[in-house]
Amino acid sequence: MSPLLSIERLSVAIGGVTLLDDISLSLDRGQILGLVGESGSGKSLTALTVTGLLPLIGGRIASGRILFDGTDLASLGPAGLRKLRGGRIGFVMQNPMTALDPVQRIGEQIDVVSRLHLGLSGEAARARTLDLMGQLRIPEAAAVAEAYPHQLSGGMKQRIVIAMALAGEPDLIVADEPTTALDVTVQAQIIQILTGLVRERGLALLLITHDMGVVAQACDRVAVLYAGRVAEERAVDPLFERPAHPYAAALIGCIPREGMAEGSLKGIAGSVPPATQFPPGCRFHPRCPHAVDICRTERPLLRETPDGGLVACHLAERIAG
Ligand SMILES: Nc1ncnc2c1ncn2[C@@H]1O[C@H](COP(=O)(O)OP(=O)(O)OP(=O)(O)O)[C@@H](O)[C@H]1O
Ligand code: SF4
Ligand SMILES: [Mg+2]
Repeated sequence: MSPLLSIERLSVAIGGVTLLDDISLSLDRGQILGLVGESGSGKSLTALTVTGLLPLIGGRIASGRILFDGTDLASLGPAGLRKLRGGRIGFVMQNPMTALDPVQRIGEQIDVVSRLHLGLSGEAARARTLDLMGQLRIPEAAAVAEAYPHQLSGGMKQRIVIAMALAGEPDLIVADEPTTALDVTVQAQIIQILTGLVRERGLALLLITHDMGVVAQACDRVAVLYAGRVAEERAVDPLFERPAHPYAAALIGCIPREGMAEGSLKGIAGSVPPATQFPPGCRFHPRCPHAVDICRTERPLLRETPDGGLVACHLAERIAG
């Protein structure tokens, strides 16, 4: 069976600058794919592209395509994309406050999704809203439904945004940093709720985070982005045990193996450069402790790893041992 979501050789540009470069990812039903990378690596841009929101920020797909359940998103017009988003694709945006209307009651904001996407009547929509709020372990749901966003805590607001994403009965949830800025206990609860939904309902979840702990806890597979490219894509266990890309290894903070200088991967100095300043060759080379001449001139192509993953590094075999 073909994957639910298939991103094929996708490049995205804004104002003539290519920000995502030849990205390929896929996600099956019942699976959680983590998307990780430092700030500026292209995680949110990937989420906006998958949810059809790219035009809103002046972006366009320069090449490649996104297939959702076999349909090319490019073949859907703005109305088709709106129907898909909120319907079969639920989106939890990076900042919950931007997703909530400050002057509308919480319950109404959730109701509208099932009214619009499932065609429910006002009463049925409210019943569904309260049911969802209960599933998300929101206490006193009826009272919370009457509240305004500013009356709720950060963790509660995030649950509301997740309820909105679920209200249209999606097959795929795209969650962009759903737990950032929440305290550790609430963070764990939200992740547990999301993973529970995937396991119980067979949803697919694209989980964007910069927190490798969340990835280890929740994900089946993980794609590591660096400067708009996929550095490594693997199942979680082999990635954590034996990362093949120096950037993935550094993110995991793994202990260097035989043949590597002691401590060489424990920290990565610097940050992701802006897209107008991406270096030639491997974009990670200015920060990579293993860089050799070829890294400065030739782009490392994605190659398969023996365990069915992908890695883009000239020295991957040597580094993974
Ligand atoms: N609207 C925009 N116009 C121009 N460039 C943008 C726009 N949005 C993002 N970018 C650029 O695209 C690149 C990727 O940004 P993106 O927001 O996807 O990063 P991210 O991985 O989500 O980072 P963070 O962890 O900070 O959320 C960055 O270089 C960013 O400056
Ligand atoms: S290709 Fe070279 S610079 Fe890039 S990650 Fe691999 S070793 Fe480092
Ligand atoms: Mg982001």
